[in-house]
Amino acid sequence: MSENKVFEAVDDYIHGLFVEADPVLDDILARSADAGLPDIQVSPGQGKLLYLLTKMIGASRVLEIGTLGGYSTVWLGRAMSGGELVTIEFDDAHAAFARETLDQAGLKPESQVLTGRALDILPALEPPFDVVFLDANKDSYPAYLRHAVRLTRPGGLIIADNVVRDGAVLAPEGVDPQAVGAAAFNQALAEHPALEAIILQQVGMKGHDGLAIARVKDS
Ligand code: SAH
Ligand code: DHB
Ligand code: MG
Repeated sequence: MSENKVFEAVDDYIHGLFVEADPVLDDILARSADAGLPDIQVSPGQGKLLYLLTKMIGASRVLEIGTLGGYSTVWLGRAMSGGELVTIEFDDAHAAFARETLDQAGLKPESQVLTGRALDILPALEPPFDVVFLDANKDSYPAYLRHAVRLTRPGGLIIADNVVRDGAVLAPEGVDPQAVGAAAFNQALAEHPALEAIILQQVGMKGHDGLAIARVKDS
């Protein structure tokens, strides 16, 4: 097997073991494909990881930046037994699709999709959030991190998708503005005095990328 094939096969294996068929989540993927949404939502295994992290800290207030069709949003919402789930999406069509998704999922937390550029919406949000998940445009990740630190409670989590970008973060200048943003984010995350963090390097059905996980230190 080529490397990519074996990584995908192992992802299938992991999903077979740890991700049960779920009518709502499976339907989002089918509807997303039908609607021509880009196939860039988190994988089922990454969704399960978001779910576990969110559940482990007993989150009741969660913020996501970058909704797409609401696939990751439902994983986050499933981990909550109530509270508030806010997700921000720039694209009107994605936001409308996601609102339908969240209706169908019948989530227990109150959920709302805020439409607009995240940097226009974030200043109006107030702390405390238990979890902030970054998954929108990577060039703005450094700015999103500043908001996430302001918004996340001590002991809360800041999680960011796509921080490795097939290794492009090693030498991103002049190659990929998204990787430049991700690399600057990673540096800021590593240096931030209020955070303890790590990047999980990931391979699988979504290629080679990484997920950053940070905990806000106790004050
Ligand atoms: N979290 C989703 C995938 C998000 S894909 C999941 O895993 O299911 C990234 C999304 O971010 C896209 O829908 C894109 O329209 C949105 N986006 C891009 N730039 C944005 C911005 N400046 N503000 C808010 N959303 C943005
Ligand atoms: C892209 C965005 C994502 O959030 C992702 O997980 C993969 C790709 C993109 O914009 O290309
Ligand atoms: Mg992503």
